[in-house]
Amino acid sequence: MCGIVGYLGKEDAREIILNGLRKLEYRGYDSAGISLYKKTDNEFMIYKDKGRVAHLESITDFSYDTGLGIGHTRWATHGIPNQNNSHPHQSNTKRFIIVHNGVIENYKELKNDILHQTNFYSDTDTEVIANLIEEFSHTLTVEESIRKTLTLLEGSYALLVIDRLNPEIMYAAKNKSPLLLGIGQGGTIIASDVMAFVGLANDYVTLDDKSFIEVTKDGFIIKDIIGKETPYDIKTIDIDNFNVEKGEYAHFMLKEINEQPSVIRNIISKYFDGDKITLNGNAKKMINDSDRLYIIAAGTSMNAGFIGKEMFEKMAGIPTEVHIASEFAYNMPLLSDNPLFIFISQSGETADLRAVLVNIKRKGYRSLTITNVKTSTLAREADGYVEIFAGPEIAVASTKAYTAQIAILSILAMHVSDNTHLNLRKELSKVAISMENIIDKKEYIKDIVKEYLTKRNCFYIGRGIDYYASLESALKLKEISYIQTEGFAAGELKHGTIALIEEGTPVIAIISQKEINKNTRSNLYEVQSRGAKTIVISTKAVKDSSDLIVLDDVFELFSPLLTIIPTQFIAYYAALERGYDIDKPRNLAKSVTVE
Ligand code: M6R
Repeated sequence: MCGIVGYLGKEDAREIILNGLRKLEYRGYDSAGISLYKKTDNEFMIYKDKGRVAHLESITDFSYDTGLGIGHTRWATHGIPNQNNSHPHQSNTKRFIIVHNGVIENYKELKNDILHQTNFYSDTDTEVIANLIEEFSHTLTVEESIRKTLTLLEGSYALLVIDRLNPEIMYAAKNKSPLLLGIGQGGTIIASDVMAFVGLANDYVTLDDKSFIEVTKDGFIIKDIIGKETPYDIKTIDIDNFNVEKGEYAHFMLKEINEQPSVIRNIISKYFDGDKITLNGNAKKMINDSDRLYIIAAGTSMNAGFIGKEMFEKMAGIPTEVHIASEFAYNMPLLSDNPLFIFISQSGETADLRAVLVNIKRKGYRSLTITNVKTSTLAREADGYVEIFAGPEIAVASTKAYTAQIAILSILAMHVSDNTHLNLRKELSKVAISMENIIDKKEYIKDIVKEYLTKRNCFYIGRGIDYYASLESALKLKEISYIQTEGFAAGELKHGTIALIEEGTPVIAIISQKEINKNTRSNLYEVQSRGAKTIVISTKAVKDSSDLIVLDDVFELFSPLLTIIPTQFIAYYAALERGYDIDKPRNLAKSVTVE
């Protein structure tokens, strides 16, 4: 994970880098650092510490002009978050200064084999890179030293390198970790995400794995690891700056929950012409050509994948499996004859998914990515991609991406089904209106949270599609309120887990399906008899007078698009009550780019 930003040009590098780091904080926020060139002293200054970018800003000297610098916001992998382990790191003589996103898997071997004379001042793998460059620079040019270092690194890296002896140049390199180059009016910016370019550069270049880049005031050269210049495409940024601001909302999460009806309407406008689905590209053919779909995802995207499985099987009759990416990567099950791999990823950068993609590509299988970021690695490297059009999702806790992913999965399932009766556009429009009805009642949900969520643990239960919604509801609550929450198949509780129910334990049941209404309610009585405080989220068709939250009836496979919203609010208000950092919960990062 981690986010890196570097700039060389005529503008204020400090402002550009700090601003970029603020936008990249979603990638990690344990510590932050920056190195800036101070022309008056012909010196590079370094400011770094444990804590957020706001803290970095407070310890950075603003009193001099600077047009070159590199910055970093960290999600700790090697070494605890402290000042020593914060980036930038330096080589032993302090000649080379670097920031790094990724993991160098062979850093211990490199230390032992090549750098046994070198002193190390941090616990990171990154310091090895700075010192290898320095080691080789005794006999090679700087460019050759960096490229030689790259050939020795195993693992992932997005790197920015500065040479104190040459403040006219900034070097960058990339393998597996994302890195893009922005072409601004007054200079060149390199960063982990296009978000850092917003307002500064309209054009950008996506850098390929094993790229090596030299940036000077006259522009940039992109080479491969051997030193041969490589061609590149220039693309135009289409992110609306307004979209990445909180506006009137206290938190991005609240904004993003509220945006869900308009995201659904946006998806309708992108993928329908009247009532007809207009999905371009090869997705339909790839699905039709396969005999089984393998959905590969992590976290919230995997929870959306479970709903997708229901849709592909029930709407289109296509057998579908859902797999945890990190498990699938190294423990592949027996596959069907013509599998299609569907990667679902908001960021399109999740390393666990990429490991699977690389693996299945090697075996010659076809792949489709469903993502919010069309410039992402998974979108670029799969055989096709479908964009979810949720708009930038900034809060670490995913909300609108989940509902957008489900909407897209329904469109894909409908597109390959024979069903001519279901008017999907109309059903999605109804969902958008019903979402608004729930959003209007958020204050009521806040009161429920105060009264019911008073313990350190909680359960969500449901059956079938409601069970899948329970999994996502539980993830939301635990990740931002730190209440230990499990999403459970309602009928399975009595096989052991019911032992955890005691006086006052909150149990929240999701009930939206007629066939299982009675069964889930029986399970509720069982926990009530053991002291649980229960909340029911149901739909009008199955409601009971005692249910606390009753939602509109929609096409039954769409019920998670509604039942999830009160649970997003439950998580939000539970975290707010406890005074936690809602948009940046502890230990997490938005984009998980390490395996
Ligand atoms: O970007 P991705 O969708 O691939 O991320 C996968 C998970 O890390 C992510 O869904 C995570 O579980 C959510 N941010 C939790 O709210």
